[in-house]
Amino acid sequence: MTAAPASHGTVRGTIRVPGDKSLSHRALIFAALGNGTARIRDILRSADVQSTAHVLRTLGVDIDPLGDVVTVKGRGVRGLVPPTEPLQCGNSGTTTRLMSGVVAGHPMIARFEGDASLSRRPMRRVADPLTKMGATFTFENGEGLPMTVHGRDLQPIQWTSAAASAQIKSAILLAGLVAQVPVSVTEPERSRDHTERLLSALGAEVIVDGFTVSLPVVHKLAPIDVTVPGDPSSAAFFAALAALSSDAELRLTGVCLNPTRTGFFDAIQRMGARLQYEEVENRAGEPVGTVVVSTGSLRAIEIGEAEVPSLVDEIPMLACLATRAHGETVVRGAAELRVKESDRIAAVVSNLRAIGATAEEHPDGMTVTGTDVPLRGRVTTHGDHRIAMAFGVLGALPGNEIEIDDRDCASVSYPEFWNDLARVTS
Ligand code: S3P
Repeated sequence: MTAAPASHGTVRGTIRVPGDKSLSHRALIFAALGNGTARIRDILRSADVQSTAHVLRTLGVDIDPLGDVVTVKGRGVRGLVPPTEPLQCGNSGTTTRLMSGVVAGHPMIARFEGDASLSRRPMRRVADPLTKMGATFTFENGEGLPMTVHGRDLQPIQWTSAAASAQIKSAILLAGLVAQVPVSVTEPERSRDHTERLLSALGAEVIVDGFTVSLPVVHKLAPIDVTVPGDPSSAAFFAALAALSSDAELRLTGVCLNPTRTGFFDAIQRMGARLQYEEVENRAGEPVGTVVVSTGSLRAIEIGEAEVPSLVDEIPMLACLATRAHGETVVRGAAELRVKESDRIAAVVSNLRAIGATAEEHPDGMTVTGTDVPLRGRVTTHGDHRIAMAFGVLGALPGNEIEIDDRDCASVSYPEFWNDLARVTS
């Protein structure tokens, strides 16, 4: 084991990271299912959110072009119209899975299509509960896209999910909402709870008991009027950059601090980064505040299954950070990473090795060993935005030279990422 001093580099500034991706998808969907005209401010303008807007427009919803304020004319909980063309979901798993629940509860047939990465991702996890409720799913290619959903009147369901997944949970809650039947979902751990919080904010009764969420019949949703807070998963890249730099203080403003999303901030504090929350307030049921991060001397940590849902999208960044932490960082209970935009366990480990770090794959995670050698080489993103950005942060540290095969894929969740990175490191 090599001692691992922080890399040198000065990082200063304030960043307002773009709107939260999970909340932006949900704000559009709930706006479409509400009664009346909805307003969404600070929505994330990224490729994934454009996919949800496009799919909703294909289902008859009038949505402004995504700008500072987006106006959506709600059609009511069961008011979407049958599509005359396939629902193009691009790279977005959240669009596909949440909208499969919405379509399942409407009397309509819709074919979902996506890019090569999305077409490889498993959809049985939503098809199984929605089929049990009464919808029909047809696959042409294993359990990936294209997928045709035949929606109709649905039955109530009490579902126990094998994975802690907000996408599965939300698909079932949305199907119950649209079909106007009671539903409940039990998870092995608590996944992000934005759907529940938004439903409550719009007047629905949501019952949470341990890891079980129940939604009784909802007849009407109020029109949403919300300002989307910053995405903690985007903020994580800059929190990591500050933690890795020898002279750093970054202020990340307006970040969503929902406790189901802040696992990465907790983890890097355990690693030794100095981090605090300031100016925390409540916005539309979500805690929002400024994250202030400064340099610390980093040590390895262990991440286990219970913690994974709260930082699931941040594990690529955490693994990159671990290359500069003293000791062996071990991630376990994260097999879900294998079915994200890429197989993130294989992609992270092979890329870490490609740049000269020591890393080992496990079926459900990885071990990364800290080092102080300069990290140099070429990274293959597999078109995965979070792989590109995590290695982009590592490459911004003095001494490292990391070439990234596809920087543009960051636009899936953070179109301004490379500009923001250049601004705080120059
Ligand atoms: C998301 C849930 C997570 C996450 C994804 C967004 C959501 O997926 O990885 O980026 O908005 O519900 P799972 O629910 O499959 O874990």
